[in-house]
Amino acid sequence: MLTTDPCILVIFGASGDLTSRKLIPAMYEMHVLGQLHPSTVILGVSRTQKTDDGWRDELRAWVEKQAKGFDATKWVDFAKRLFYFAGDAVKSECYEPLQTRLAQMAEERGTRGNLLFFLSVAESLYEPIIERIDEAGLVVEGKRWCSIDPAAKSWQRIIVEKPFGHDSASASSLNRCLGRAFEEESIYRIDHYLGKELVQSMLVLRFANSIFEPIWNQQYIDHVQITAAETVTVGQRTAFYDQTGAIRDMIQSHLFQILAFVAMEPPSLYTPENVRQEKIKIIDAIAIPTADEVAAHCALGQFAAEGKDGALKEGAYHELAGVAPNSTTETYAAIKVHFDNWRWAGTPFYIRSGKKLAAKKTEVVVQFKPPAANLFRKVTGFGGEAPNRLVIEIAPKERFNLRFEVKVPGFGLRGANVDMQLDYADRFKADPVEAYGPLIVDAMRGDQTLFKHRIEVEGAWNAVMPFLDERSAVARAGIHANYACGSWGPKSADELLARDGRAWRNEA
Ligand code: BG6
Repeated sequence: MLTTDPCILVIFGASGDLTSRKLIPAMYEMHVLGQLHPSTVILGVSRTQKTDDGWRDELRAWVEKQAKGFDATKWVDFAKRLFYFAGDAVKSECYEPLQTRLAQMAEERGTRGNLLFFLSVAESLYEPIIERIDEAGLVVEGKRWCSIDPAAKSWQRIIVEKPFGHDSASASSLNRCLGRAFEEESIYRIDHYLGKELVQSMLVLRFANSIFEPIWNQQYIDHVQITAAETVTVGQRTAFYDQTGAIRDMIQSHLFQILAFVAMEPPSLYTPENVRQEKIKIIDAIAIPTADEVAAHCALGQFAAEGKDGALKEGAYHELAGVAPNSTTETYAAIKVHFDNWRWAGTPFYIRSGKKLAAKKTEVVVQFKPPAANLFRKVTGFGGEAPNRLVIEIAPKERFNLRFEVKVPGFGLRGANVDMQLDYADRFKADPVEAYGPLIVDAMRGDQTLFKHRIEVEGAWNAVMPFLDERSAVARAGIHANYACGSWGPKSADELLARDGRAWRNEA
């Protein structure tokens, strides 16, 4: 088993939703799986006054609800790793007592000065907290890659949650702020989609087999669809969501990570540096649409109050409390992406995500072209839809489905489309853990493979900006209530593909 260094995981935003719903249950699962160093502890930092025990009691209910296989004895063991510090992390006064506490804990637990900060706070607090950490002198490590004996030195790393900026300019400002305090090697820009099994498995499918890579290009692939459909609405987060929308919330972040894994070139070796370099290159190869092309390359929508789900009592998106009545923020977005490179020239990637859709599903559809010549063209029942398609279901099911044409048994010649399926749950009997867990453990190990590089994040913002700024005005006109709840999105999204002679795979 891989080992992690002992450390103190310092979570800023200890009272927040992400901490209780995801981070602590994830750490509990890692504890149960033996992935945490015995000395590792977690210090939650937040403004509310609480004791260590008070925080532990609050978290117990969340862990019981959210984590796999709750066990009261294991909880008691895990709870001993949890500590709480009340303080306002944007204020300098917070840091002297915080440092004293950290030093005490390091001494008692033997965490060797290793600190892993996690920013689980509102985005507006990122820069002030990073600046305070830096001013307080909490980052003492030099460049990890050139340490004479890295094992002998303490390390300080930081995990930054999305949203990573709001646009190109703010992402670049945040990167500069981080860069003034931490080396790039110590910055872990987290994306929980990279913790999903089937997202990681895509790299193995592509690069550990010989049968896919030769045909993984514009010569054989007609197009790719990447979908993250959700049935939920925006919940309590209306104010945040109205400033954000589906492109920022899902496409620029999560779906571009999937896009990069589907489209990138093979790295020369599976190392953080090589994988990240290839992701930077593929994001950089995205063709940025001109202002005139934007409306034709996207479809944006907001859910209506009525639909297959009946009527939403809280109303359509633009009627929700906390949403500006004239809001043009998209709760649905579909965009068409082209790459300017040899592998993908001419093969479009359609990416979509939305709230209040017909089903929860995250998947990649790789549609292959029809055979170069159809030898069965004079036989009835052949030559319809191009048969070959690989569907990678990421959630809620974890499955690979490969479709091809076979002969139907019996007299005469008749073709049928069949699917060959690998279901992860059946085959591996694996119970997926909360995606944050393995990622945080990677950060404890110093493995950046599944974290985003500064240049990649800025590249992803550059690629989506035309769909977000004034260039998207035409696409946003008439957005109010333009798709029924429980549907697959606005008509314009179907038209986006229909213009290219294609259709979405809308199977739940
Ligand atoms: C989050 C978004 O990053 O991802 C949410 O902010 C979204 O709006 C969530 O619901 C989806 O994550 P998952 O893992 O449920 O697909």
